[in-house]
Amino acid sequence: MTKILKVPQHIAFIMDGNGRWATRRGLPRNAGHKAGVKAIEKTIDACIKYGVKYATFFAFSTENWKRSKEEIDGIFKLLREYIAKEDNLFVKKHVRLNSIGVLDPFPEDLKQSLEKTKKDTQNYDKLTVTFALNYGGRDDIIRAVNTLIKEGKKEITDKELLATLDTKSIPEPDFVLRTSGENRISNFMLFQMAYSELYFPKVLWPDFDEKHLVKALKVYAKRDRRYGGIK
Ligand code: IPE
Ligand code: IPE
Ligand code: MG
Repeated sequence: MTKILKVPQHIAFIMDGNGRWATRRGLPRNAGHKAGVKAIEKTIDACIKYGVKYATFFAFSTENWKRSKEEIDGIFKLLREYIAKEDNLFVKKHVRLNSIGVLDPFPEDLKQSLEKTKKDTQNYDKLTVTFALNYGGRDDIIRAVNTLIKEGKKEITDKELLATLDTKSIPEPDFVLRTSGENRISNFMLFQMAYSELYFPKVLWPDFDEKHLVKALKVYAKRDRRYGGIK
């Protein structure tokens, strides 16, 4: 096993390229999402192996509702199979499941089983996996501010906002990795990423595996995080 000296505590993955992976093979886009789930499983195993404590996966954005019903239903089906079923990999691997984003528009059965798995795994502390579902960075900030207004706040602090965002139970990401070569954030954790290290490997998400994670960890280990200060 490659020894990594400085492992990020929290990696956020913007899993991109599933559609292109499928199209290049002459397959329907949902075949790419299915292959993408396999890559999530491999990444979870690799995160445990290298001691990453928090892994967040951007699975469905507030903008992804623009896609076809067929594609959206296909994604829900995969969520049902891999996250929501009774004997899921979180329960089996003792991984804590968490989610960010508004679950209201998701099918009732999916919501219920997601909540059940979150509850069943809440005390595991080896790795926390957060799925971003119907998540948007702007939406997260606006909902948090509105919550604070409803609580009667006239002015808010950085600390209060962080404690109200969907990510309140996890630290800010140290490392944000987006696959497929797109160099953008696409409305992911905007507030939380203020000082994250960013990395944009070209690999399409379904091809992402332990070898790519190790390469990413080496990239991160070389970064010099200064937070505006001088060393
Ligand atoms: C990312 O892959 C997964 C989701 C957004 C659900 P895409 O589906 O965006 O793949 P490309 O970008 O079309 O290749
Ligand atoms: C970002 O990917 C969202 C997820 C990975 C869930 P998109 O494929 O939706 O982003 P854009 O449209 O290329 O910016
Ligand atoms: Mg995409």
